[in-house]
Amino acid sequence: MAEENIHKGLAGVVVDTTSISKVVQETNSLTYRGYPVQELAASRSFEEVAYLIWNGELPSEEQLREFTARERSQRQVDPRVIELILGLPKDAHPMQVLRTAVSYLGAADPKAEEDGTEANQAKAERLLAQIPTLVAVDHRRRHGLEPIAPDSELGFSANFFQMTFGEVPEDEVVRAFDISMILYAEHSFNASTFTARVITSTLSDLYSAVTGAIGALKGPLHGGANEAVMAMLEEVKTADRAAEWLDEALSSKKKIMGFGHRVYKNGDSRVPTMRAAFEKMAAVKGADDLLALYNAFEKDFVDRKGIYPNLDYPSGPAYHLMGFDTEAFTPIFVMARITGWTAHIMEQQASNALIRPLSAYNGEDQRQVPSKD
Ligand code: CMC
Repeated sequence: MAEENIHKGLAGVVVDTTSISKVVQETNSLTYRGYPVQELAASRSFEEVAYLIWNGELPSEEQLREFTARERSQRQVDPRVIELILGLPKDAHPMQVLRTAVSYLGAADPKAEEDGTEANQAKAERLLAQIPTLVAVDHRRRHGLEPIAPDSELGFSANFFQMTFGEVPEDEVVRAFDISMILYAEHSFNASTFTARVITSTLSDLYSAVTGAIGALKGPLHGGANEAVMAMLEEVKTADRAAEWLDEALSSKKKIMGFGHRVYKNGDSRVPTMRAAFEKMAAVKGADDLLALYNAFEKDFVDRKGIYPNLDYPSGPAYHLMGFDTEAFTPIFVMARITGWTAHIMEQQASNALIRPLSAYNGEDQRQVPSKD
């Protein structure tokens, strides 16, 4: 096969249709079910957006009431999963813990093998409700703290703060978090969603597909970038060190975390909204130094390379200012992306074809196994 027919990393390859979201490379825009994501983030809650992603339309008031009631009633997790998390090594990465816990939920669900949109919608809603509980339990155990039970009086984002810190912060902080959930919810055929679709295409179950997707999201070229951004900014330390740090990193051919994108080459349409949320956090928390570092680093890197920030660049420092541990940033991403993954799993099932590409062999020519004597 000629080299030009090989699409390394599947770059530029269209593998299927989807009606869930649209990424437009030319205008750097993203829509969920036809709605621009920045407009959804300006006026809607994450719960409304989750409903939209799964059902194709925004909910009526009645539909939203029923949907949020179902989500709030399912947040409590099987106590055996809490035991499992508490028994894992304390230094295991939170994404390893979350992947293990979600896999356990599948093994413990008597209906795990049940198929069809209705059964999968029920599993998807339960995962939406329970993943934050798993993330919060793990966050607390790292600090030697007991789990806090979910509070069904609180919305999705406020409840997550309550379960993690034992209190709900200022409205602006909860809203900024909710906005990040909306922006992270869905993004067409990204690596983790594609992983979920590959697993689904073999007629495997939803939990297996989600467990695989968590593994794919963990890597720093994908979801792991939000924590890598914060680790990097902490290493740079101050705005006046940005240039020197970049000189060294670029001369050793390091990838700069939170910049660049496979599809958007002129900026990511989610960034201005998340950047505004980060700036709000910096104002609420009095974090002028971090904001100055953020701005100086971005300007320097964009000036040098013409490579723009992606969503992980503002979300990493925003989560830091909200008080979350850096290693928890990617599990937080999972709390949002579970909506997109499961929508894609159901879409794949509805019109399935086994995903099985070809490879061009470049190893030894066929040869005979030498005889032993
Ligand atoms: N830092 C330094 N150079 C970069 C970067 C970066 N962040 N991104 C791209 N480049 C360079 C790259 O080295 C290459 O240069 P050259 O042509 O001289 O070899 C050129 O730009 C094209 O890059 P590429 O790797 O072919 O682009 P890609 O589309 O395969 O990669 C990417 C996209 C996201 C893997 C890459 O930009 C990257 O590694 N970024 C850092 C990690 C990151 O922020 N990931 C989050 C992605 S978006 C949100 C998400 O999935 O969570």
